[in-house]
Order: sequence, then C-alpha cells, then structure tokens
Amino acid sequence: MSFMIFWIPLFIIINSRNFKLIDCVCTLPTVLDGNVWDSRRGTVVFSNSNLELTSGWEVSGFSQTWSIFTCIESDSNHWLFQSVNSEEVYGPKYYGFYCVRYTKITDYSYYYYLDSDIEEIVNYIRLSFIEESVANAGVTISSVCNPTSGPSAEEFHVLVKENRQADVKQLFPAALMGVYAYTATDASSSGICGTGSVWDACTIKTTILFNYTQCSTQMFGSTDGEFYATKYVTSGSTSYVIIINGDSTTSTRFTCLAVSGSSVSSNPGSCEKGQVATSRTSDAASLLISLSVYESTQATPASPSYVMIIVGVVVALIVLIACVIGCKIYHKYKKKSKVQNGNEENANNPGNDPSAANVEAGSLTPREINNSLQSIEKQVPPLNAKYISHDHQ
Ligand SMILES: *[C@@H]1O[C@H](CO)[C@@H](O)[C@H](O)[C@H]1NC(C)=O
Repeated sequence: MSFMIFWIPLFIIINSRNFKLIDCVCTLPTVLDGNVWDSRRGTVVFSNSNLELTSGWEVSGFSQTWSIFTCIESDSNHWLFQSVNSEEVYGPKYYGFYCVRYTKITDYSYYYYLDSDIEEIVNYIRLSFIEESVANAGVTISSVCNPTSGPSAEEFHVLVKENRQADVKQLFPAALMGVYAYTATDASSSGICGTGSVWDACTIKTTILFNYTQCSTQMFGSTDGEFYATKYVTSGSTSYVIIINGDSTTSTRFTCLAVSGSSVSSNPGSCEKGQVATSRTSDAASLLISLSVYESTQATPASPSYVMIIVGVVVALIVLIACVIGCKIYHKYKKKSKVQNGNEENANNPGNDPSAANVEAGSLTPREINNSLQSIEKQVPPLNAKYISHDHQ
C-alpha cells in the first residue's frame, strides 16, 4: 500500500514533465526548410529536421559569437529560438534568444518583428540574453518575449523562400502606385535621373518597373529594373514597404522604401529604425528620392490631339444643328413658295403660314421681330438654301 502511494506522485511528476515537453515544442513551416532570404540578414539556413537556424543569424560581441539557434517553442505567431551555446559575458554565461513574432504573407513569404529590447553589446540587434542557470530552469515565449521598448512599425523584416521572388508579390501602398519621374540623391550627388525617367508602379500594381532606356542609373542594385512589393505597413503618414529585387542573382535582394507624399527614402535590406521618408538613412547606399508626375516626351503632341477631337466634335454638332434648322427653313420656304408663288415679301407674313409657331409675332416691335426666329427665317433663307443645295450636289 505504501508502495502504491509512493508511485502515484512519481507518476504525476512524470506526466507533468511530459506536458511541459509538449508545451515547449516548436513547429517551423516546411517551406522555410533550407535556404531562405531574410531582409534583415541576407541568405539564412533553416534546418527543420533539428529545428535549427544553422546560419545567418549569428551575433558577436565581447569576443564571443552565438551562431546556431534552436527553436524551442512556437505558437500561432511566435517562434522562440535559443542559441545552442552559452558564452561568458562579464563572468556569467549567457544564451541568446530570438523572439520572432511572425505573420504569413504568402505560401513563400513571412514577415516578422523581433520582440526583444535592443542589445548594444551585439551591435544593436534585438536579442534577449538570459543567464545560463535561468535558461536551464526553463524559459517560454511569455517569459522571454516581453521587451520594455519593443520594435516600432517600421522595424519589420521579410522572409522569402530562396528564388521565389516572383511568387510573393503584394500591392504597393497607394503613395507609390503610379507612373512617376524620379530624382534621386545618393551619398555623393544629387539630381540623379529626373525629367523623363520612368518609375512605373501602375501598369502592374505589385511591381515597380524602371525604364533604364530613359535613365540608365541602376536602382537599388537591380540590372533588370524590376521590383516586387513583399509587404508594407503604414504608420502615421508614412508607409514602409520592403521590395524584393526580381534579378536571379544580386547582392541587394531587399530594399526598404519609406514613402510620404512624393518623398521616398531607401535603405538596403529592412527599414532602418526611425527611418523617415524625407532623409537618407545611415546606410551609405541609401537614396533620397523625389517623385514627380511623369511627362512622356511623346505626350506633347498627344495633348493637342485631344483638343482637336473636342473641337471636331463641337464643329460637327454645330454643322448638324445648322443643317437641321436649315432643312426646316428650306422646307418651310419651299412650301410658302408653292402657296404664294415664291413671293418672299408675302412669305414673311405669319398669318399665311399654317405651321407658324410664333403666332404673336405680329404684336412685336420691329426690333423684337428682328431678334426673333421669325426675322431670322426671313433673312437667312438664301444662305440656307445655298447650303442645302450644296448638300444635295
Ligand atoms: C522605355 O523607354 C523607351 C524609350 O522611350 C521606350 O521605347 C520603351 O518602350 C520603354 N520601355 C517600356 C517597358 O516601357
């Protein structure tokens, strides 16, 4: 009996341990297995079989490096990665943790935020260091991923399965959807491109097409001049979009564009924390761009042709109206001519016209008569008749 009592608590302990293990399981999307492009870090490698991120997210500081990370827990929008090794910093040893708050965009793309405070000793990366003994006692998403000063809207990153850039296209923010001329300023010069350059994010609303025939300066490291929106967020009046280079090979796969009104700033990779649309970032390759309405060199003759069409239509309408009026008058005149033997003076007498509408014409002053349709009828028949006779020829 006492033997049984001894075993029951042990069974409960074993059971609760099992529950804890189930709680802490991590599942990574199968699509991320292998090489993945990360807007934050370039090409990174996931190994789903052992739930590891084997390269691309390494951090260094204090002559120490944390290179490989294991996913120890996940839920519907988090992956918690713990470094395989713990390293000494000022005495104690620390594990590094990445708190990845992710959202699926397409079958081949995700975006994420890192829910940690900025760690200065590893070059200002959002990463949580946890002392070895604390980590060994057990940590969870809820215990690690609670920064006091978490990421702001623009601090998102994009993961795209390697070579799937054409399968992750999203719409651009409204401020970038259009056909523009662009004038850029880089680290050393201003006035790059300008009038006649073409930034087309209108023909295809998920794609920016640069026309390098119009301005040959390569934009954001692209030889083809073709970029796709992967994801944008809007904060206040500024939208942040991470674009992906359509080239098959490139050294600049991702670029962040911050846009507000007609002003755009670019930053290679993800957006810079605190990036604004109106100035270059700290990155040497950052551009400040001003968008303006695109004026095609072929648009100049095109505009007057619209005017010509309108003028043509108006003229045609006037001719048509004149024709109809002329026709009526001609018929009326002909009728009167028959009845009164072509006497023009008598034809002016409304009393003699059975179809005359203006029966009160007789009460009008000569001036009023002059201004009335009746008087026009009297004066214009020869002209109208001539016109109609031309028509009939
Ligand atoms: C780029 O500009 C050239 C020269 O104006 C033009 O012939 C060409 O059609 C343009 N390309 C595209 C894709 O619009």
